[in-house]
Amino acid sequence: MIPTIRRATVADAAVLSATATATFVESFGRLYEREDLQAFIEDAYAVDKQATILAHPDYAVWLLEAEGRVVGHAAAGPCGLPHADVKPGDGELKRLYVLRDFQNGGHGARLFETAIDWLEENGPRTLWIGVWSENPGAQRFYARYGFGKVGTYEFPVGRVRDLEFILRRPAAAID
Ligand SMILES: CC(C)(COP(=O)(O)OP(=O)(O)OC[C@H]1O[C@@H](n2cnc3c(N)ncnc32)[C@H](O)[C@@H]1OP(=O)(O)O)[C@@H](O)C(=O)NCCC(=O)NCCS
Repeated sequence: MIPTIRRATVADAAVLSATATATFVESFGRLYEREDLQAFIEDAYAVDKQATILAHPDYAVWLLEAEGRVVGHAAAGPCGLPHADVKPGDGELKRLYVLRDFQNGGHGARLFETAIDWLEENGPRTLWIGVWSENPGAQRFYARYGFGKVGTYEFPVGRVRDLEFILRRPAAAID
């Protein structure tokens, strides 16, 4: 059965909170002390925060569904990354996660392309992504779509500060 992708609505706030938590913990949970992980999840993935994102016209979230459950998600919106060259109107891929059991089947690429198509539905835009410096798999993935490293920043997870790479794809990179 091929997982399907659908745009999430405000009614999905709780399921988005649960899936964002599950995928983050599965992907990166081992890297943090329990209290740091808990503090990050309670803040970033709070149900009311997901509802705010889902209700906002400048943001969009997609759910990857299989076997009657959510197995991945992507989120996009205005660029909020701390880089001097970010301009109003630039877009950002904010989240891209697929549960391990469903990885390497091209579903991440489908989710990614859905988000990029939405970001560029009114024409090419400069696009940005923040990615953990020690995540070479995701960096390879994004490089295939023309994203290159243009900076770094620190991403807080509880008391921890992770080094993140800032990736950018100029509007004209792919025509
Ligand atoms: C990145 C991710 C969404 C890709 O989804 P996917 O369905 O596996 O992707 P596809 O099958 O379309 O493409 C496979 C590519 O994903 C990347 N990838 C595979 N496993 C990965 C992993 N565990 N972590 C990060 N990237 C991975 C690789 O580039 C891989 O291709 P390659 O090994 O041949 O170079 C998925 O691997 C994932 O959720 N990883 C963990 C969370 C994560 O790192 N998210 C990105 C945060 S910025």
